Amino acid sequence: MGRAVPVMMLGRLNHVGIACVSIDETVAMYERMFGAVVSRAKFPLPSQRVSVAFIDVANSQLELIEPLGADSPIHGFLKKNPSGGQHHVCFEVDNIVAARDAMVARGATVLGTGEPRIGAHGVPVIFVHPRDTGGVLIELMATPEGH
Ligand code: CO
Repeated sequence: MGRAVPVMMLGRLNHVGIACVSIDETVAMYERMFGAVVSRAKFPLPSQRVSVAFIDVANSQLELIEPLGADSPIHGFLKKNPSGGQHHVCFEVDNIVAARDAMVARGATVLGTGEPRIGAHGVPVIFVHPRDTGGVLIELMATPEGH
């Protein structure tokens, strides 16, 4: 049955997700170290129990993520990585439902309910468990308008 579901093609690298103890402190560090400027200031994303801010670079973005609430999934990451660190990489895909089906057909675990949900960019996303992807948490997102 898995062979019947087409291989999904990765699109552009949309962003690299970085877990932070404090977005404000991380932004200050990027400003001080790299002259980087925030392109979207910190905002809450209650559905994913995180707060998020973006730093644009020439060909991609950094997505800074901070826990929102006591049950945020980021707490577990910060327990293992107390000063924060690289959390996920996100690729754009043409069809998020087809991408989800392709992942499931290849035995990967899609986190949460398995249904795409609206991510920080306002488009549907899924996350694929790192045990299936060489230790890297992979986010797949529907290609945003204008890309
Ligand atoms: Co992300």
